[in-house]
Order: sequence, then C-alpha cells, then structure tokens
Amino acid sequence: MKTQKIEQTSIIEEKSGADVIQGLTRSPKTLPPKYFYDARGSELFEQICQLPEYYPTRTEAAILREYASEIAQLVGACELVELGSGSSSKTRLLLDAYQSLGYHCKYVPIDISETILNASAIQLQTEYPQLEIEALVGTYEQAIAQFKPTTLPRRMIFFLGSSIGNFTPEECDRFFHQVGAVLAPGDYFLLGIDLQKPTEILEAAYNDSQGVTAAFNLNILSHLNWRFQGNFDLSLFTHQAIYNQTENQIEMYLHCQKNHVVYLQSLDLTVTWKKGESILTEISRKFDLEQVEKDLKSKGLPTLKTFTDSQNWFGLILCKVGK
Ligand code: AVJ
Repeated sequence: MKTQKIEQTSIIEEKSGADVIQGLTRSPKTLPPKYFYDARGSELFEQICQLPEYYPTRTEAAILREYASEIAQLVGACELVELGSGSSSKTRLLLDAYQSLGYHCKYVPIDISETILNASAIQLQTEYPQLEIEALVGTYEQAIAQFKPTTLPRRMIFFLGSSIGNFTPEECDRFFHQVGAVLAPGDYFLLGIDLQKPTEILEAAYNDSQGVTAAFNLNILSHLNWRFQGNFDLSLFTHQAIYNQTENQIEMYLHCQKNHVVYLQSLDLTVTWKKGESILTEISRKFDLEQVEKDLKSKGLPTLKTFTDSQNWFGLILCKVGK
C-alpha cells in the first residue's frame, strides 16, 4: 500500500519587494540574503557545500554523524521542525538516528525555495516511507508565527548550517526571542553556529577557486531580474568576500565596474550605479560559543549540551526550554 504522507503548504508573502527597494535606495546599498535562494541559487548553494574550501557543511555533518544518536536520545519522540531545510542532507543523520532508535517523529521542513523544498520532500519520502512530512514554503518568521499545536510529545526546532550568521545582532536577538516564545517548556532548539577562526581560512571559504561562490553571489541579481522584471547586467559586477575582524563577520560584496542605470519594472525602481560602488549582499557572522549560549539563555533557551568538532571550528548547541 502506498500512502501519501507529504503535505505541503505555501505561506510565502506577496512579492512586494519593499525590502529590495529599501536596500537599493540606501547608501551603501544592501540586499537581503534571502534573495539568493531561487531555484538556481539553492542549487549553487548545494555546490558551495561540496567545495574543498567551504568547511562548515562537512564539519557540521561530522558533528551530527558523531552525536545524532545522543541528541535523539536526549530529545526523544518529537516533531522535528527545520528552518531553511534546503536539500535536507544533514537532516538525514538525525532521521537515521530516530529510525534506528525506533523513536516516533514527524518532519516539518521549512524553506523559502519551493523548488528545492518539493524535490527534497519527495526524495525523503522515498528514503523514509514511514515518515510523515509536512513541508512549509515561507520565511522563518512566517513559519514560526503560524505553528500549530503538535500531536507529538514535544517539538524540536533546528536551524543548521550557521544560517543564523546572516542575522545582525539585533535580528538575532529578535529571532531567539521568537523561538523562545513559540516553544513550550520541555521543547528543544538545536542551533548550528560557525565559530571564529583565522581570517585566511574564512576568506578562502567565501572566495573559492572555482568561482562557485561568485556565481552564487551574482545570481542574486538574476533572481531580482526575473522576480521584479529588472535589467541587471551581471557582467558589470564582480564578487568579493572579506572578513571584518572588528565585527567578526564575512561580508560579501558585489562591486560595480561601470557607471550605469538599472530599472526594476514591477517595482518601478530606477537604481543608479557608480563605478567602484559596492553592494553588501550578505554578512556571515562567526561566533563565540559562550557568548551565543549567554544570548540564548537570556531568551529562555538554556543550553542542555554543546557539541563541537576536534578543531573547534563549528558548534551545535542543544537548548531545552525550562519550565
Ligand atoms: C547559508 C548563510 C550559512 O553564510 O556560510 C555560503 C551562505 N554564502 N557561501 C554562509 C553562504 C556564501 C551560508 N549560510
């Protein structure tokens, strides 16, 4: 018997583009990193995760490979809610642990790219025929805001890959507060964070020799072109990532090579560009483990256990909401 266990809901916002207008009309110009993730962008990100220079994915996967079973035993039967699930490749390590322990779970992947979410849900369903999957297309905030009560004993929200690094300290604060507020006593939050390390290693990870990160960065402009009927010429911009040691963050820029004007038709937005001007497309903060634990605790998310790799390059923090 074949049962359909995938349920998918889209809660994607209206394509207002207010955030694009805001970012492109200020000085210096910025764009929200969520615009990286159209179908092509999600695909390029998957390629980044395989790059020799990009250590975060494989380091986090190694930690999960070692500790997924311990995490599953600590948490027990639960609803697994993943923010920014993408290809769900690291999630399989957790799902495998649940399966081999025989613990009941339901998987709720949330992603902004419907294409990758769909494909991964279908793929997962063939690999885990017993697993109930409820996929949600939307942003983190939208998803968290509309959680339904779970039928399972508890819920674990997990946010891997150090995607939290895209948030400014203020956004991070707001987000932790939201997570703390939506979880019930006894629920869990599992957070993956990229830790501070030498500049050379960091800059290499975001300026890879094959140019995949450059293509990923430039793709944000193609995404704006189709989404808002724009006429960005990608050949007029070049990629660069630098590590800001004062802010402890990677900053990804697109540098403009020529004076020109871009028009985004559906936003009725004209943007003038100067040669040498740069646009900040992403920050990727690198964290201090103890500091993040403090921040989490102040939002009602005390650490139950922390897991790291042998080089201390990446951390996984498991929080348990107190009573
Ligand atoms: C998905 C935000 C965690 O910051 O490392 C990778 C995105 N950008 N290479 C990161 C990214 C360029 C990635 N996050």
